[in-house]
Amino acid sequence: MSPSAIDGNGSGMGIVVVSGGTNGMGRAFALERAERGDRVLVLGHNRARGEALASGSMAFLPVDLSSVTETRQAIEHILTEYPVVDGLALFANALAPRRVLTADGLERTFALYYLSRYLLSFGLRPALDRAAAPVIVNVAGVGITRGEVHWADLQLAAAYSTITAQLQAGRANDLLGVGFAQRSGSRARYVLYHPGFTRSGDRSALPWIVRGLLAAASVAARPVVGAVAPIHRFLDEPPATPLTAIDRGRQLPPDFPTLDPRDAERLMDLTEKLLR
Ligand SMILES: NC(=O)c1ccc[n+]([C@@H]2O[C@H](COP(=O)([O-])OP(=O)(O)OC[C@H]3O[C@@H](n4cnc5c(N)ncnc54)[C@H](OP(=O)(O)O)[C@@H]3O)[C@@H](O)[C@H]2O)c1
Repeated sequence: MSPSAIDGNGSGMGIVVVSGGTNGMGRAFALERAERGDRVLVLGHNRARGEALASGSMAFLPVDLSSVTETRQAIEHILTEYPVVDGLALFANALAPRRVLTADGLERTFALYYLSRYLLSFGLRPALDRAAAPVIVNVAGVGITRGEVHWADLQLAAAYSTITAQLQAGRANDLLGVGFAQRSGSRARYVLYHPGFTRSGDRSALPWIVRGLLAAASVAARPVVGAVAPIHRFLDEPPATPLTAIDRGRQLPPDFPTLDPRDAERLMDLTEKLLR
């Protein structure tokens, strides 16, 4: 990674913000960034896990990223404390077996898995744009063509399932990458990255039978360290183009069906309206 250079953070190291850095892939990524000499700010929900990480060059900011208010407060905090941000890595997600509405009246998976990433990506733009070679990595499921954005029912009031909500937010994140590249005007490179089936993920909210099946299948899953290895490369050698989409090792073409520029415009418009 090129250390922050434009305004300079004075440390000679990079500053990396990791949402969902308290567990799973985010945690492994955050720890390795710190080992490599970056200053890392971890955003997460579980205070015990977060505080256990906070020492030396790692800081922890507790935040419920399913809350628009708390996510906005976190962004304000970051812009004040870290005027330059070199890397933003987005991992936060959680499975919701039942449809739960947040205090903002939003379906929780949509709020956490998609909307917090929208807010952080656009909200941290000023700090990212002061870095020498800023990169945003959105870790989700690009390359999957199942699922869709339910345009007439974004909050899935009519037909909810855990999978429907996960797939909708996944497709929305695909469009977020396209939308950010199209309309943010930022210098930050946006990378959509699908790690594939990995030995991570909090499945405690799932029925025991599903947990059992996933545990059996996880023998074939990727180790966490291997799944996050490409993310280090994205930060260390930022891509030349504004948007890059990588499904495991495969680079997806810009005309991949889930990366439709008109759908991205439509979702960015709807999201702006929703947040007004
Ligand atoms: N694991 C896989 O096989 C796989 C496959 C494809 C894609 N992915 C994607 O990769 C990403 C990371 O997955 P993972 O397996 O590493 O997940 P994970 O182990 O379950 O970690 C999820 C992270 O999100 C945080 N989080 C959950 N709810 C939050 C909230 N309300 N506010 C703030 N933070 C919250 C958790 O924080 P706390 O612990 O503090 O609650 C944790 O740090 C996800 O987007 C997932 O969809 C995973």
